[in-house]
Amino acid sequence: MKLNIAVLPGDGIGPEITEQALKVTQAVCEKFGHELNYKHGITGACAIDSVGNPYPDETHELCMNSDAVLFGAIGSPKYDNDPSAKVRPEQGLLNMRKKLGLYANIRPVATFPSLLHKSPLRADLVEGADFMCIRELTGGLYFGRPQGRSEDGNTAYDTCIYTREEVERILHLSYKFARQRNKKVTIVDKANVLATSRLWRQIGQEIAPQYPDVETEFMFVDNAAMRIIQWPKSFDVLVTENLFGDILTDEASVITGSLGMLPSASIGVHTSVFEPIHGSYPQAAGKNIANPLATILSAALMFEYAFSLMEEGKLIREAVDASMEQGIVTEDIASTGKAYKTSEVGEWIVDFIRKTKK
Ligand SMILES: NC(=O)c1ccc[n+]([C@@H]2O[C@H](COP(=O)([O-])OP(=O)(O)OC[C@H]3O[C@@H](n4cnc5c(N)ncnc54)[C@H](O)[C@@H]3O)[C@@H](O)[C@H]2O)c1
Repeated sequence: MKLNIAVLPGDGIGPEITEQALKVTQAVCEKFGHELNYKHGITGACAIDSVGNPYPDETHELCMNSDAVLFGAIGSPKYDNDPSAKVRPEQGLLNMRKKLGLYANIRPVATFPSLLHKSPLRADLVEGADFMCIRELTGGLYFGRPQGRSEDGNTAYDTCIYTREEVERILHLSYKFARQRNKKVTIVDKANVLATSRLWRQIGQEIAPQYPDVETEFMFVDNAAMRIIQWPKSFDVLVTENLFGDILTDEASVITGSLGMLPSASIGVHTSVFEPIHGSYPQAAGKNIANPLATILSAALMFEYAFSLMEEGKLIREAVDASMEQGIVTEDIASTGKAYKTSEVGEWIVDFIRKTKK
């Protein structure tokens, strides 16, 4: 198979971690006889610095002409510490989501046996937790207009809007994922208070009978926030709107023990984007110490979701599990003994993939 991918390393640790994921992608392609073509593009602070735009047209063209995008992270203290900056790295991310029509952000949350002691929750609560958060990404409060301030500056407003089409497409997607997993969908809303949530719930009630093999559960967002830490094993696929999803997915991510471990996929109308959930961790940039596993696992999702190459994704997961079992990990998750460099972890995983019999 031919795989054409765009590689957008971004800022901070982005270049170091995407380099490892790309090496792993190359090794997998060699092993399974796929032809890999890739091109690099700029986005984020580095793109502002070089062309004044955090998501330049050339980068968008590259993404549109690729089958998948492997993304690092964006963001820089230069802009974080300058609230008056008119052009900001995060605008690049929002533009990319909007222009590629990335309406669903998918975050698998699974615990790793060797990391249970790093979780802020008791091991017996999180051991075996394995669920998927699906967050609506291009609607709701973050994109609704009008948004702004009154003339005297003392009143501010945002608008939350959802259309039937936006809700239907993400719910159908969630049921499709649930069918490949443990056949349960939890639809999270605030239908007791919000009109948009009532639309979500109504459409959920209409769609659920189309998937009789999947259990449907409706849950208020405040209850879901509690349940994620009280009983994370009760979820299979959790789907929700943009703002609730932003908060719940971060909450869910920390139960696994390290931000450096979790991948994500954003899928929608055009090319899908695969990226770690963490940011550009500027303090570690250039030091070769950042954990590359979230980005390497994002490459696994890329094989599975963008190319339907399940064996390839599985091999990457096996390699990541083996590296953790053998302690070939970076300082953030090294519990005893040696901490390995970013590039050493990447090389060990490449080596594991080359040596493993198909
Ligand atoms: N999708 C994105 O590109 C994205 C997401 C979040 C934040 N950001 C940006 O990233 C910059 C830094 O933000 P932040 O410090 O809040 O979040 P961050 O995720 O970059 O880092 C927070 C902390 O998490 C840990 N961490 C993150 N990634 C790690 C890795 N790969 N290995 C080991 N430890 C890791 C570190 O302890 C770090 O101090 C900001 O400019 C922010 O806007 C970008």
